[in-house]
Formats: sequence, structure tokens, C-alpha cells
Amino acid sequence: MIPLPPRWMIFTGAIAALALVIPPVVIARVRATPDQNRAVHIFFDMDFQPKFKSQSNNPLFADGRAQRVAVAGTVAKGETKLDTHRFEGVVDGKWAETLPAGMSMSKELLARGQQRFNIYCSVCHGYAGYGDGTVNKRAMALMSSSDGPANGTSWVQAKSLHDPAVREHPLGMLYNIATNGIRNMAGYGTQIDNDDRWAIAAYVKTLQLSQNASMQDVPPEIRGNLKKAETAAAAPAADATKGGVK
Ligand code: HEC
Repeated sequence: MIPLPPRWMIFTGAIAALALVIPPVVIARVRATPDQNRAVHIFFDMDFQPKFKSQSNNPLFADGRAQRVAVAGTVAKGETKLDTHRFEGVVDGKWAETLPAGMSMSKELLARGQQRFNIYCSVCHGYAGYGDGTVNKRAMALMSSSDGPANGTSWVQAKSLHDPAVREHPLGMLYNIATNGIRNMAGYGTQIDNDDRWAIAAYVKTLQLSQNASMQDVPPEIRGNLKKAETAAAAPAADATKGGVK
């Protein structure tokens, strides 16, 4: 039979074995606990310098805030939309009546507006703006089907742009509607380029004038021509849906 070592040796050995477990347990615990600071600070660097954290008090300032307000006129990086005329359609708190600086009314601008309107707006509002676009027609038909609206969805009739109230909208407001939408209509600010939204607004004004013009709006020297055209296309509401300024 192998003789057992003396008791004191067994005890010392057991305690030493237990003590050996402590360092790995401490290391594992420190590794598993998230902490901004290093567990062992040998060099303090500037970790403990006095400072005011954001949203805290600082009695040094009259308003008691440690965090100072940005200086008036500060421009955030990437912030380029300070021109309210160009980006909101607003001048001095009122809807702009003119195009923003650098853009001028021209046949080219209206042609561009017409092209963009025909792509983005006519589907609902119709080429001539009477609120009778293809998508709108289809949705209205689905809404009034005998089985009721498909999947219980609803549809709001696209407004006629010749509605007396809409006809009064200043240019800047039309631009803003094209950008941000209005009530049930979504905005097109992310799909349509900014200058193009101005071109569309100008074109909507043109469309409105085209459907609500009197002989006084026609230059006298070409009034004669117009009379001829009128008699030629005698049918009322002739080809309004074809749209277009020529
Ligand atoms: C998906 C269909 C749809 C498209 C596309 C669309 N609209 Fe509309 N629009 C509507 C609806 C619906 C309304 C009426 C919203 C309401 O009354 O809640 C409306 C209303 C308007 C109004 C009248 C706002 C008023 O004061 O009542 C204007 C102006 C207008 N849209 C311009 C545009 C322009 C410009 C575009 C193209 C950039 C465009 N819309 C594209 C559906 C559309």
C-alpha cells in the first residue's frame, strides 16, 4: 500500500489548486464586462480630466447650460437647403410667384416641365390636368366594381388642376406640392430633380392658363389664326387629353 503524504501537504496542495482558478476567473469576468475604461489604469492619459458632459449644467453661463447653442448662421456639414425660394417655394414667408435665382422662364423650360409632368404626374392627373389619368381611371373603376374595392383598399380621386382653388395656387406652392405632396398625394422630391420640379410647376401654370384663357390673352396679330383653328376643331373639349404647349 502506497503511504499517503502528510495531511498538511494535501491541504496545501488543495488550497494552491483552488487559488490557481482565481486568476482565469477574474480575467474571464473582466473580458466579459463592457467598460469604457481600461480595467487596469497604468497610464491615466486624460481619462479623468474635469469636463462638462452634453446636456449637463454649467453655472458659468447665464442660461445654465454646459452645451452652447450654435452661433446664428452656422451651416451644418451637408446642409445646402438654406435658400427657401429654391427648396421650399417660399419667399419672405409667402409662396413664391417667380422661379428661383438662376432659372428663367423659356420655351425650353416649359417643354422640359411638360415632359416631366407627362412622365410623373399625368398618370393620375391626366395629360391636360383634369384628374383623369390612366392610373386614376383604373383605380376608380376598381373602387366601384360590384365586388367592392380590391382588398379593401381605398383611392382618392386625383384633383383636377383646373379646379378654381388649385388655379389660384402660386408657382411656389405648386413646386412645393410636387416636392412634398399634399394631403393624400405623395411628394416627388426624391424622384424628380429640384430644377425639374420648378419646370413642372411652371408647366402646370401653363396648363391652367391654356384651359382658362380668353381672346384677350392672345396677341392681336395672331387672333385671326386662332379663329380658324377654333372653327376647324368645332367639337368641344376637343383634344384636351393630348395636352402639350406648342
Ligand atoms: C398617384 C397619383 C398622383 C400623382 C402621380 C400625382 N398626383 Fe397630384 N394629386 C393626387 C391626389 C389624389 C390629389 C388630391 C389629394 C387630396 O385631396 O387629398 C392630388 C392633388 C394635387 C394638386 C392640388 C392640391 C390642392 O391644393 O388641392 C396639385 C397641384 C397636384 N396634385 C400636382 C401634382 C403634380 C405637379 C404631380 C407630378 C409631380 C402630381 N400631382 C402627381 C394624386 C397624384
